[in-house]
Amino acid sequence: MIDRNDKLWWQRAVFYQVYPRSFADSDGDGVGDLRGIETRLDYLVELGIDAMWISPFFKSPMKDFGYDISDYRAVDPLFGTLDDFTSLLEAAHERGLRVVVDLVVNHSSDEHPWFIEARSSKSARTHDWYIWKPMSGKKPPNNWVSLFEQRSAWYPNEATGEWYLATFTRNQPEFNWRNPELRAAIYDEARFWLDLGADGYRMDVATAYIKDDEFRSNPRSLTMNPDLFQHHIYDRNRPEVHEIFREFRALADSYGDRVLIGETHGRDAQLAASCHGNDKDELHMAFNFDFLFRPWSARSFRESADRWYSLLPEGAWPNFTLSNHDQKRHYARYRSGAWTEPRARVAAAMLLCLRGTPFLYYGEELGMDCRELPRSKLRDPLGIATWPLRYGRDPERTPMQWDASENAGFSSAEPWLPVNPDYRERNVASQQSDPESLLRWYTKLLALRRTESALQTGALSWLDAPSDVMAWSRTAGTTRIDVYLNCSPRKPEVAVAPGRVLLGSDAGAGDGIVAGQRRLRPYEVLIMQRQ
Ligand code: GLC
Ligand code: MG
Repeated sequence: MIDRNDKLWWQRAVFYQVYPRSFADSDGDGVGDLRGIETRLDYLVELGIDAMWISPFFKSPMKDFGYDISDYRAVDPLFGTLDDFTSLLEAAHERGLRVVVDLVVNHSSDEHPWFIEARSSKSARTHDWYIWKPMSGKKPPNNWVSLFEQRSAWYPNEATGEWYLATFTRNQPEFNWRNPELRAAIYDEARFWLDLGADGYRMDVATAYIKDDEFRSNPRSLTMNPDLFQHHIYDRNRPEVHEIFREFRALADSYGDRVLIGETHGRDAQLAASCHGNDKDELHMAFNFDFLFRPWSARSFRESADRWYSLLPEGAWPNFTLSNHDQKRHYARYRSGAWTEPRARVAAAMLLCLRGTPFLYYGEELGMDCRELPRSKLRDPLGIATWPLRYGRDPERTPMQWDASENAGFSSAEPWLPVNPDYRERNVASQQSDPESLLRWYTKLLALRRTESALQTGALSWLDAPSDVMAWSRTAGTTRIDVYLNCSPRKPEVAVAPGRVLLGSDAGAGDGIVAGQRRLRPYEVLIMQRQ
């Protein structure tokens, strides 16, 4: 059971992102669903996570696979029914697992009744809930771009002689958050899932809610992906968004123990940090995506974590992510021949031992890989529009690999995306029975984190170490835990303070007392409790 009086559970929790299309299919249509997730809850409990975030399962024409919602209060039949959701929620809560759902309110689907009404006439009740500009000739009002269609973000609406704005696909028209009625309507939709008992929201592209009031063109930049050669200072990332975050926070706080985690769009850690608010009156957490864009290097990882800690306003709580449904999985990003697997172990220890809430992405505990798909198998609109540049997101969304049976135990039918070819060797069943597997390594790390509160909420201080090694201490009360990560295939020497080995990736590390100069093995992880 979960404790509704526990307001800070999300600081101790480990989150696990479920992409529902790809996790488990209960009804044999090749697409994962809510019942499928429910049948796998015990797996998540055994793994040792505390909360899951489920990507959208709401009614949707699926032009962006659920990130285009046509009814915020309904479950799409593809994923099941509202009863399936309440049953999943209840089953999760019984097991002590929290459930966070996705809130996609920068835009709706163009099939949402609000937009259908809005586009019918300028005098429609919901017209001003979306963003319009008068159409005179063929030239769009400014240079804003549609990310997933690689063209202007302005689309003509004949009925009113206006352009509407859509910076993802054309089927995702953007809301006018400056309209108070729209705001109130969104807050009502947001209450719906919290009233049902959901533990909070992951907020999709939250820093894009508000656009420049003068609709100025963005200045040019030199970066193609994902910026399409623009600095996005006018179509998103406006300062007025903080006021909305404060309103959302008040709404969430009125429920006591619910959490808001914002996707604050992109790679700007400073912007993300600012979304916590100085009085902790904005988002509980804003995603820190910096690791997604870092090369494999102890120095770079430490610099990234350090920078994030120093950017956060006083009292704000950090978080870390290595993989999600929009980026190449880190197993593949950090591929390095025979060292790929050892690197995945080091990465897991980093994510789970740093100070901050970790977000795992389904299948990373198995070392699920990303591979290129032939053009005919692509489903992601971004992948299709940018082929053959491979900016698509299908490779990180392939079905969860449960066992060696056909379709990896994900579905009895052909899955919506092909299963990775390595599934016969790499799957939950085979890794559960192998004590040396990556899955068992994650399970051990998660179990250790759960028993050691120093690893959850303890203070962090960096330890001096050679450049290939990332080393730090976590302290809570009289407990002090030292973590040494050798991020290289070399054997650097570290000065280890006397202590007991809590967990090591090297079988030779044993459980004994270790102290003094020690030569780490390639990619060795050593977690020690000080004496
Ligand atoms: C976010 C989601 C992404 C989606 C986009 C539009 O970036 O993570 O998957 O396509 O928003 O909603
Ligand atoms: Mg299904």
